[in-house]
Amino acid sequence: MRFNSTVAAALLGLAPEYVLANLLSEGSAHQCCVALSSSDVGNKVVYPGNAAYETSVGSYWAENVQLEPTCIVQPHSADDVSTVVQTLTSTGGDSPCKFAVRSGGHMTWAGANNIDTGVTIDLSMMNSTVYNKEAKTASILPGARWQSVYKTLEEYNVIVPGGRTGPVGVGGFLLGGGNSFHAARIGLACDNVENYEVVLASGRIVNANSETNVDLFKALKGGSNNFGIVTKYELKTTDNAHLWGGITVYENSTTDQQIPALVKFIDNIENDPYASWIGLWQYNSTTDKTLISSPIDYTKPVAYPEAFNDFYQIPNITSSVRHATLYNLTSELQQADGYRDVFLTSTYLNNANVLKKTIDILNEKILAAKPLAQGKDWSIMVIIQPWPKILWQRNQNNGVGNVLGLDRFDENMLQVLYDYSWDSEADDALFQRLCEEAMAELDDYAKSIDKYNEYIYLNYADKSQNPLRGYGAENIAFIQEVAERYDPDGVFQTQVPGGFKVSQA
Ligand SMILES: Cc1cc2nc3c(=O)[nH]c(=O)nc-3n(C[C@H](O)[C@H](O)[C@H](O)COP(=O)(O)OP(=O)(O)OC[C@H]3O[C@@H](n4cnc5c(N)ncnc54)[C@H](O)[C@@H]3O)c2cc1C
Ligand SMILES: *[C@@H]1O[C@H](CO)[C@@H](O)[C@H](O)[C@H]1NC(C)=O
Ligand SMILES: *[C@@H]1O[C@H](CO)[C@@H](O)[C@H](O)[C@H]1NC(C)=O
Ligand SMILES: *[C@@H]1O[C@H](CO)[C@@H](O)[C@H](O)[C@H]1NC(C)=O
Ligand SMILES: *[C@@H]1O[C@H](CO)[C@@H](O)[C@H](O)[C@H]1NC(C)=O
Ligand SMILES: *[C@@H]1O[C@H](CO)[C@@H](O)[C@H](O)[C@H]1NC(C)=O
Repeated sequence: MRFNSTVAAALLGLAPEYVLANLLSEGSAHQCCVALSSSDVGNKVVYPGNAAYETSVGSYWAENVQLEPTCIVQPHSADDVSTVVQTLTSTGGDSPCKFAVRSGGHMTWAGANNIDTGVTIDLSMMNSTVYNKEAKTASILPGARWQSVYKTLEEYNVIVPGGRTGPVGVGGFLLGGGNSFHAARIGLACDNVENYEVVLASGRIVNANSETNVDLFKALKGGSNNFGIVTKYELKTTDNAHLWGGITVYENSTTDQQIPALVKFIDNIENDPYASWIGLWQYNSTTDKTLISSPIDYTKPVAYPEAFNDFYQIPNITSSVRHATLYNLTSELQQADGYRDVFLTSTYLNNANVLKKTIDILNEKILAAKPLAQGKDWSIMVIIQPWPKILWQRNQNNGVGNVLGLDRFDENMLQVLYDYSWDSEADDALFQRLCEEAMAELDDYAKSIDKYNEYIYLNYADKSQNPLRGYGAENIAFIQEVAERYDPDGVFQTQVPGGFKVSQA
């Protein structure tokens, strides 16, 4: 099938050089898969047509990132990962193996966590969580989904900070920062990691913590997949898996009441860091309606805390607030998989005019999409989240810090995520364009009133963005230096093309 598509390309008049390059890389990718199949992990390599291969491809959250690699390898241990990396760096000669790394597969742009011609290392089989009572830590493998982590830890009445929708993956989340219901109390999730076990490009398995490989320890807190493959995370646990919260749904017409309530809420978080609020304005083409849903959550079991007083005054359609565990709340808060998706994100100073403009642009893009969309089922959404300075100021991470660069800022901010989903591939270019335009217009507006901030949250960023640049020049230089020290041949820059690369920041 792949050979035929190359022949077809030739028939379509593509340059012979292009066809030759394609054939060469496909030949090389096959050679890499053959080498893996004859290595110690041979029985963990799966090919198109194999049930495990189809399950793996189908388990990415967004339809548009479900690329079809030449083969997929599913390691069960750090030793397996080491074998895979050593095989892929020693095969291929002049045409080195290209590969991708994935954990939960929730990043939404094609190629970040997968590859078309090459090998995908799928860490899904490495998914256990073990609680260490003495140390009050949890050892979590990268292929776990947060719901399984919470479920395991609930038995001990402890939590770790993680995703707010259950199926989100652990591996990518922790490498990009990680926002959670608990962030205002205990910092971003990456600041709660006490040890990383990492397979380096050489195949060597090392630990990184506040005493060993300290530079790597710091760089992994935000630096994504530029250094190696993390095969285990050791997270500090926090007491009490029992919260109060749920989802409250409002009419679109309450927007003018939501905005002042939110601005005030963001500035008040430092007085009550137990309170977490998210706002989702979502238009759905099948209902032709925009609704506002707010997950409001309190990270101790207290009903109707004062922190949300202004929101209680806004008339709601339904509300599921209740006493519940973290596992239960994150099982409720889901976003449908199986769509084509694009995310773009930016950060702004906490300001009512920015929020009003955020919603105005959302409404304009809905009107722009209506006459042009070919599919029937699509959604245009904005997710607004507080980004108060307490997220990085209260938790200085045992003095080591991270590479996000947030410590340069001393203001309460908010984060905007434009999140579009659609069912028809024919609409890919349309929604990508509208979403990029929306973000650019909002950025321009915020700059014009001096409310723009250059930080871009990597875990929500699109391929068209450059989140590492937002970390600041000093952090980029540090990430670059650590990447060169631990990966001198640049394997994770060139042989692993997916994700946000420091060499391109
Ligand atoms: C429905 C939904 C809900 C979300 N909720 C939240 C939320 O509550 N809070 C939040 O902060 N973010 C949230 N996110 C964003 C989320 O943090 C990112 O999508 C993140 O990448 C998910 O991790 P993953 O393991 O699924 O990543 P993947 O898509 O598997 O990987 C992402 C990137 O990390 C790299 N990578 C993954 N694992 C490893 C590893 N072990 N070693 C080295 N590199 C690796 C990959 O190569 C890739 O470039 C959400 C996303 C979605 C789609
Ligand atoms: C978790 O890993 C085990 C093997 O270690 C595997 O059987 C199981 O399918 C994995 N779970 C998921 C959800 O991938
Ligand atoms: C939502 O409300 C805004 C006014 O705030 C309005 O302009 C817009 O048309 C509404 N959207 C829908 C889909 O009704
Ligand atoms: C939702 O509205 C009902 C009244 O209809 C009110 O009693 C309840 O407190 C509201 N819930 C929230 C979370 O605002
Ligand atoms: C969450 O708790 C509610 C009861 O409050 C229950 O109905 C629901 O089934 C629970 N969900 C899960 C996934 O356990
Ligand atoms: C739109 O709403 C319908 C009906 O509730 C739902 O089935 C569908 O998943 C939604 N579409 C999107 C893109 O979220």
